[in-house]
Amino acid sequence: MITYEPTTQTFHLTNGLISYVLQITAYDVLTHVYFGQAVAEINGLRRYPMLDRSFAPNYAPATTRGYSLDTQPQEYPCGLGDYRSPAVDVRRADGGQYVDLHYRTHQISAGKPALPGLPATFATDQDAAETLTIDLEDPTSGLVVKVQYSLFQSLPVITRSAEIQNNGTQPVTLTKALSASLDLPLDDWEVLHLDGSWGRERQITRQRVTPGTFSLGSTRGTSSHQHNPFLALTHPTTTEDQGEAIGLTLIYSGNHQMTVEEDQFGSVRLQAGINPEHFSWQLQPQASFQTPEAVLAYSSTGLNAMSQAYHRLFLDHLMTSRHTHEVRPILINNWEATYFDFTTERLTPIIQQAARLGIEIFVLDDGWFGHRANDRSSLGDWFEFPGKLTGGLAGLAQQVHTSGMKFGLWFEPEMVSPDSDLYRQHPDWALALPDTTPLTGRGQYVLDFSRQEVRDYIGAEMRTLLDRVPIDYIKWDMNRSLSDVFSRALPPEQQGEVAHRYVLGLYELIEHLTSAYPNILFESCSGGGGRFDAGMLYYMPQTWTSDNTDAVDRLGIQYGTSLLYPPVTMGSHVSAVPNAQNGRQTSLSMRASVAMSANFGYELDLTELTDHELTTLGEQIAFYKRHRQLIQFGTFYRLYSPFDDGALTGWGMVDTPRSQAIFFIFTTHAQAHPRLDVVRFKGLAADQHYTVSGLTGVFTGSELMHVGFYLDPAAYYGDNNARTYVVTATDAP
Ligand code: GLA
Repeated sequence: MITYEPTTQTFHLTNGLISYVLQITAYDVLTHVYFGQAVAEINGLRRYPMLDRSFAPNYAPATTRGYSLDTQPQEYPCGLGDYRSPAVDVRRADGGQYVDLHYRTHQISAGKPALPGLPATFATDQDAAETLTIDLEDPTSGLVVKVQYSLFQSLPVITRSAEIQNNGTQPVTLTKALSASLDLPLDDWEVLHLDGSWGRERQITRQRVTPGTFSLGSTRGTSSHQHNPFLALTHPTTTEDQGEAIGLTLIYSGNHQMTVEEDQFGSVRLQAGINPEHFSWQLQPQASFQTPEAVLAYSSTGLNAMSQAYHRLFLDHLMTSRHTHEVRPILINNWEATYFDFTTERLTPIIQQAARLGIEIFVLDDGWFGHRANDRSSLGDWFEFPGKLTGGLAGLAQQVHTSGMKFGLWFEPEMVSPDSDLYRQHPDWALALPDTTPLTGRGQYVLDFSRQEVRDYIGAEMRTLLDRVPIDYIKWDMNRSLSDVFSRALPPEQQGEVAHRYVLGLYELIEHLTSAYPNILFESCSGGGGRFDAGMLYYMPQTWTSDNTDAVDRLGIQYGTSLLYPPVTMGSHVSAVPNAQNGRQTSLSMRASVAMSANFGYELDLTELTDHELTTLGEQIAFYKRHRQLIQFGTFYRLYSPFDDGALTGWGMVDTPRSQAIFFIFTTHAQAHPRLDVVRFKGLAADQHYTVSGLTGVFTGSELMHVGFYLDPAAYYGDNNARTYVVTATDAP
C-alpha cells in the first residue's frame, strides 16, 4: 500500500480508496503533494512552482530564490523561514527557539505500531495496515522527528503521529509538538466543528475558512464539552451524501488544539495536537517524546461516508474492550430517580420493576461512598457509606444479581473533596499552585494524576472494592475542569508537563484497571459528554453522551456526536418529564425513539410510572432487544439534520448485507395545515425488495431511497413526534 519512488523521492500511500502523497524536495524538505481520492499512479504532475515570492526567506545560496519554506506545502513544518504555524517548536539550551528539519531516512513496515503510553489505533492482522516512518533531523541540535503514517487496508483514513528524539548532547524544551500538519491548496474551504457546553455538547457549526487562523481547542485538562477534538474541511456544496470532506481528530483526552490557517495565497494549513498553551516538555539527551495520534479521513461522497469511516475505524481498530463488538445491555441508572437520596428500601422496588421489565443492568450512581449525602464531600474515600445500604454494596449487588440483572457502580477516581479522609491525609495530592488554596469546581479538587503514588493509591482503593463486591459495570466520571495545574512532585522547569502527564497517568490507571477486570463494562463520563473522545474509547467502549436527557435537545447532541462516534458508543436514556435540565415535556415514545437510536437505557423512577407506561416500557425494551444488533452495529446514515431549516431530524442503520434496516424520523414543531415532507431512506440495495413497518406494500430500495413517501400528517400534530420504520428485505412480489 505504501510505495517510495527514489528518482522523484515520492511516497504514495494508497489502498484503492484514498491516496496520500508526500515528496522530499530541495534541501531535503518533506512536502505535502496530495490527499484525496485514490490515484493509481503519481507521476509528478503537481509540483509547487519555483517562484520568487516577496518577503519569503530562502536557504543560501541566494540563487535559489524560487524556493521558500514560507510557500512550500509541508508535512511537519518547523517554523524556520515559514511564518505559518509550525508543527514543532523547541527552545534550546542556548535560549534560541528554532528547529530546522530535513529528511534523513525512512522505513516502510507491515502493521501498525502501538504508541507507548498512549491510546492508538491498531491492526490485529499485520496485513491490515502498513506504516511509513520518516526521520527528519535538525542538523545542529541532533533532534530527530520521526513522523509516522499508517494506512489501513479498507478504510479511507490515514493515522499520523510524531516521535521527537533528542539525539544531541544538550537538553531542549519542546514548547509545541503537534501530531499532524498538512498544507492543502487553494479551494473554497469550509470548516465544520463540534462545539457546545455542558448539557449542549457537540453542536454542528460550519463556517467559511477565511484568511488568518481558525482555532478550536481545550485548556481544561479534558477534551471538553466546549470543543470536541474534531474538525472537518468541506466545501459549501458538501452535504451528507455529496462532496468532499476531510476529517481530522485526535486520539487524546486532554488539552488539544485544532487549527485551520489560510495563508496569503489561500493555501490552508490543517493542524492537530496537544494544545501548546501552557505546554512545555523537557527533553534530556537520548530521551524522546511521543505525540498522540491524529486520524485523517477522506470522503468524496459527503459527511456520511466520512463518519462511517471513523465509526468502522474506532470499532475495528481502536476500541480494545472485549465488550466492543458485543451487544450492549439495557441499563437503568438511579441518578435522576433518586440523586443522592437513596437507601436499599428506596432502590428495591426500582430494581424489582427493572428486572420484571427486562432491563439488564442496574447502575448505582453517585452517593454510595464515604459519607456523601450531597456533592460536597467524600470523593477520594472509595469505601462504603456505612449504614446507607442494608447489607452494604455486596448485599445490593447480590440483590441485583438475584433479580437477574447485572450490577454497575459509579466512581469519580480523579477527584478529591476537601471534606474527605483522603484530602485530610494528603492535602498535597491535589493539583494546587504554591502557597494558594486551589479553586474548587463542583466543590472538589482534582487529584494530581501525574504522580504515581496518587494513582497507585486510588487504583488500590478501587481494586479492594472490586475484589470484594461483584461489579459488572463501572461509570467512570470526571466532574470538573482542571485548574491550578501545578504538581508538587515536579521541578520548576517541568511544570509545563503536568497537564499531559495527568492524561498519561489517567491512561495508565485505566489501562491497569481495564486489563485487570476485562469483564467489567466501563462507561466513560465527564458531566455527560465532557470527555467524549477517541482516547477514552480506546479503553471504555461507551460514553454517557450528555447530562441533558431531553429528547429534543438530544437530537442535536446525538446528531453532532455521530459525525465522529458510532451510536453504540453513545449512552442514551429515557428520563422523566418535565425534563430535569430544561423543563420540556415530550412523549414517552419520542423519548424512547431518541434513546433507542443509540446505546439504550433508562434514568427515571420506575415506581412513579402508571401501569400503562410500564407496559409501554416493556414493549420498548423488547423492541430494542429485537433490533439492537442492527442499531448498535449497523452502518449509520444521517438523513435529516436538526441543524438545518427543515422540519425533520432523521437517521438510521443498515446491516452489511442490506437486508435489514431501521430508520428514525422526528418532528419537533407542531404545524397547523402542515407542509408535508417526503421521507427518503439511505443505504438500501437499489434492486432489493423490502417491506417497511407502518407502510403497506413491497418496495424496492431505489423507490424507498429516491421516490420516498409522505410523512403521515399526524406526525405534525403536537410538538415532538417520532416515527420508527423497520425495513426488511423480502422476495419480489
Ligand atoms: C455527573 C454525571 C451524572 C451523574 C452525576 C453524579 O454529572 O454526568 O450522570 O453521574 O455526575 O454526581
